Amino acid sequence: MRDRILVRNHGEALKPTLAVKLDDHRTSSLYIGDGLLQDTGFMAALGLPSRIAVISNQTVANLFGSCLNNLSAEHELILIGDGEEYKSLETYSQVMDELVTRQFNRDMAVVALGGGVVGDLAGFVAATYQRGVRLVQIPTTLLAQVDSALGGKTAVNHANGKNLIGAFYQPETVLIDAATLRTLPPKVFTEGLAEVIKYGVIYDPEFFAWLEDNANAVLGRETDALQFIVRRSCEIKAAVVADDEREQGQRAILNYGHTFGHALEAECGYGQLLHGEAVSIGMVMAADLATREGYCDSRTAKRIKNILAAYRLPSTPPVFDKHALLRSMAMDKKVQQGKLRFVLPKYIGSVFITGEFRLVNLHETLDAYSDLCA
Ligand code: NAD
Ligand code: GLY
Repeated sequence: MRDRILVRNHGEALKPTLAVKLDDHRTSSLYIGDGLLQDTGFMAALGLPSRIAVISNQTVANLFGSCLNNLSAEHELILIGDGEEYKSLETYSQVMDELVTRQFNRDMAVVALGGGVVGDLAGFVAATYQRGVRLVQIPTTLLAQVDSALGGKTAVNHANGKNLIGAFYQPETVLIDAATLRTLPPKVFTEGLAEVIKYGVIYDPEFFAWLEDNANAVLGRETDALQFIVRRSCEIKAAVVADDEREQGQRAILNYGHTFGHALEAECGYGQLLHGEAVSIGMVMAADLATREGYCDSRTAKRIKNILAAYRLPSTPPVFDKHALLRSMAMDKKVQQGKLRFVLPKYIGSVFITGEFRLVNLHETLDAYSDLCA
């Protein structure tokens, strides 16, 4: 906690806060700090190519667009609409048109400035424009800083499901300025906390206990607390991704809460339930299923529910139809060989991936939660 993360440019090569080691000797460099976007020395030393396309939206550009002048490179802003509905093939195609019209060549870099919507779309653009150009992520929501900006999953949505069209494509640089979190609307800040709490459940009991004890500091967005949760979350995600970049196995533990969560998001209508809120409910439902299956005790499930409540996150869905939810879960990318898979907790700090569960227990979990929202 005392460990402040500061990166300074003293005219030397910048030292990343974290270097994520990937296959084929590739590395993603993460810089985490408070006020990095305002730090002209740091920004100028990032080593970007002479021409960059910054993809953002109007909300974020109004807040942080002027910081782009601190970059040494010539930048051109391409704005997309604000909202999950703009993470679409249509927007992707419009951005591609802009890049072609403005005659960007392969020496360029794409810089994503914004939340997960901007980051996922811009990442997919970078992965595919002229077969791939350099990608820099500057995430400005908590969810994007602790999850979507690192790890290389890029995508746009399809009418039949979220993230159905995409690619694994790693950013060379991720610049995380915790100061950007201060302007987030409370609901958007809070939804990011669901992913932070997820890291405690899946990987780190001490981090989970710290989060239990420090809700006020985190919710008060205190500088040290913000930097600590962002850094610890990134360390955990980096460790998981480095071992299984393309999700052949263990990386799927990062999907804890997402099998129920993605289906709830789709069922309630994207935008009705924020991604982090859906994941929060999904984590509680997965813990309920794990308890019914006998994998975890009720005390563990209760701790998960209680911490989410302490961070003002929901644990019951607003409304859902059980059969529609089951159909939606069957569409999920996590289905393998026709088998639905869940990430289930055993105890705090340990989860496992399984396709083995009794259908009767899944129905009981769904019935219990549909009764709660009735
Ligand atoms: P978002 O990108 O829609 O951002 C939420 C809102 O906050 C937007 O209105 C945005 O304009 C605004 N905003 C952004 N930064 C701000 C700031 N600093 N101050 C004030 N307002 C700001 O939503 P999100 O929660 O960041 O991302 C959700 C997306 O991320 C979903 O599409 C989800 O599928 C995706 N995701 C991807 C991964 C991955 O691994 N690639 C992981 C998790 C989630
Ligand atoms: N958000 C899950 C992953 O990156 O794998």
